[in-house]
Amino acid sequence: MSRPTRALIDLPSLRHNYQQARNLAPNALSMAVVKADGYGHGLVTVARALADLAPRFAVACREEADTLRAAGLNQPVVLLEGVHAAADYGVCRAQGYIPFVHHQSQLDWLAAIADQRPLRVWVKVNTGMNRLGFAPDEVAAVVARLTALGNVTVEGLATHFAQADAPDLVPTQRQVAVMNRLVAECPGLGLSLSNSAGHLAGLTLVEQWTRPGIMLYGSTPLLHRTAEQLGLQPAMTLESALISVRALAPGDEVGYGATWRATHAGRMGVVAIGYGDGYPRHAPSGTPVWVRGTRAPLIGRVSMDMLAVDLSHLPQAEVGDRVELWGANVSVDEVAGLAGTIGYELLTGLTPRVPRVITRG
Ligand SMILES: Cc1ncc(COP(=O)(O)O)c(C=O)c1O
Repeated sequence: MSRPTRALIDLPSLRHNYQQARNLAPNALSMAVVKADGYGHGLVTVARALADLAPRFAVACREEADTLRAAGLNQPVVLLEGVHAAADYGVCRAQGYIPFVHHQSQLDWLAAIADQRPLRVWVKVNTGMNRLGFAPDEVAAVVARLTALGNVTVEGLATHFAQADAPDLVPTQRQVAVMNRLVAECPGLGLSLSNSAGHLAGLTLVEQWTRPGIMLYGSTPLLHRTAEQLGLQPAMTLESALISVRALAPGDEVGYGATWRATHAGRMGVVAIGYGDGYPRHAPSGTPVWVRGTRAPLIGRVSMDMLAVDLSHLPQAEVGDRVELWGANVSVDEVAGLAGTIGYELLTGLTPRVPRVITRG
């Protein structure tokens, strides 16, 4: 039998979560954000699952958009980082990609190209995130310069929220106010604001295009609400199996560095998954896994290919038992929190060694 470690990708959950995003943005259209290999779920798998629901996809870069086209997906694809070379504007024109323009260099490349094929773009505005985008007082001139090129249509202005995941929405509302002022000054332009947190914080009412990502995969973007509370379903179940079960005597130490020591006689199991698969090495002893219908705590350090769990309360547990690392019973957000990170990092960090297996609910 092959190694039992795999990620089950549940297509109905993806569709349910996209529908949730749409319900939270009744006045807008929602481009499904499928970058970083569909947040680790498989770019093409996710895009195919949402193809009849999502009018557009959003990715980070041209290469990801090319993968969608190669798989026969023909929706417009938005490039959230824009292009990385002048020549890529030709590819955008040929393929119907819609790049963000966030920097003077991208503007200059576009102005220098004599290509009459039409191109749609979004202008990215820096309203406080201080990552990408033009300053608000530059926007009118940028839009005018793009429009003067004749072959370029500015669909709208986009920004990205820096803190919409936090309960205090005042900084986010400041970002929204800047964008509202800018579209009032540039009539006819659309607006795109909300990531998943924006949807869940009820901020989508003024925009034409939202950009939900993490919520599509059933992980919460909010610091103060779980995915379950938000009605999201995990699209991925990461599972493996026990490949060894042994008795523990009081004083036995487990794993590299002997960071865990048994205080009483018990049992432990070894699961065939480790940081070489993307399970976080920083998950501490006590992080739960799901086995035989209950939780069992991780013990000792996570190795590259394996991790150990305490099975003292599960006398019947045996080699071959299925173990859920995250999914419906142990959320990826809970594991991430214990490991000092976020669900985004765990999902996108799953390595190619883990086969993605599609399930249909
Ligand atoms: C510009 C932009 N829009 C939307 C998203 C989707 O964000 P989230 O996954 O938090 O919904 C991202 C993701 O990082 C992004 O960079």
